[in-house]
Amino acid sequence: MKTCIITGASQGIGRAAAIRMSEEPGVRNIVLIARNESALEETAAAMNRHGTNVKIVPFDLADLDAIEGLVKGIYDEFGSIDLLLNIAGYADPRSLPDTTIENLTRTFTINVFALVVLTRECAKYMRNRQSKVLNVASTAGVTSRPGWLSYASSKAAVVSISNTLADELAEYQIKVYCVSPGRCATELRRALAPEEDPSTIMQPSHVADVIANLLSDEETCLDGQNIIVRQNPSISG
Ligand SMILES: NC(=O)c1ccc[n+]([C@@H]2O[C@H](COP(=O)([O-])OP(=O)(O)OC[C@H]3O[C@@H](n4cnc5c(N)ncnc54)[C@H](OP(=O)(O)O)[C@@H]3O)[C@@H](O)[C@H]2O)c1
Repeated sequence: MKTCIITGASQGIGRAAAIRMSEEPGVRNIVLIARNESALEETAAAMNRHGTNVKIVPFDLADLDAIEGLVKGIYDEFGSIDLLLNIAGYADPRSLPDTTIENLTRTFTINVFALVVLTRECAKYMRNRQSKVLNVASTAGVTSRPGWLSYASSKAAVVSISNTLADELAEYQIKVYCVSPGRCATELRRALAPEEDPSTIMQPSHVADVIANLLSDEETCLDGQNIIVRQNPSISG
């Protein structure tokens, strides 16, 4: 039975993934990480708890030095770490004249540095047990986004990191996936496109379904490559 860690679990895609993963029969323990404790509790309340232990961990991923202890504590409590879902994300896109080192640092700290440190620490415990890491990048990381320099470049880094780690960690039987959602109806998207009607775009549950499929035992032939997740408006259903 598996232990699954999910960052960004307080809302949006991370919450949807947590709910979806709690329906997976092979997952026994799910650890929800984000800063907002009451929102994490809401996620936990929405999860199917049949046989699943849910632990909420209010934690600021900007505290990079504390991640080692965080991961060790999870391992000590549950005895394994099998699935890591790096979903937390930060976006404060600016055009070039307004891009500051502070903006770049904040964006890269959450989207890239925390993801790397968390993956490094979890990988210590994930070796040789058919484990999986899933990183959420963005279509903004692979196509031009004028005005979104820090966010888009941080997501390009996630795509690259995923490629590298898929090969580097393969010898330890750790698979690494990268999914890049397009427009998805969350708070992050609302901040980026306040005029958009969220009912007209992809929903978090759609991304969560893809994530759960990738993390299932049946998926054995994909890794590394960036998987674009988006709804094609020409295809209904
Ligand atoms: N929505 C889209 O259109 C879209 C498209 C492509 C990619 N993505 C990516 O999908 C992922 C999920 O985003 P979303 O759209 O679901 O956005 P969201 O609803 O804004 O969720 C972002 C999550 O990240 C967490 N987070 C942010 N800063 C954190 C910090 N310092 N420490 C711990 N957790 C932190 C937030 O939790 P707290 O605030 O509680 O800490 C929240 O749970 C992100 O990586 C985003 O870049 C989204």
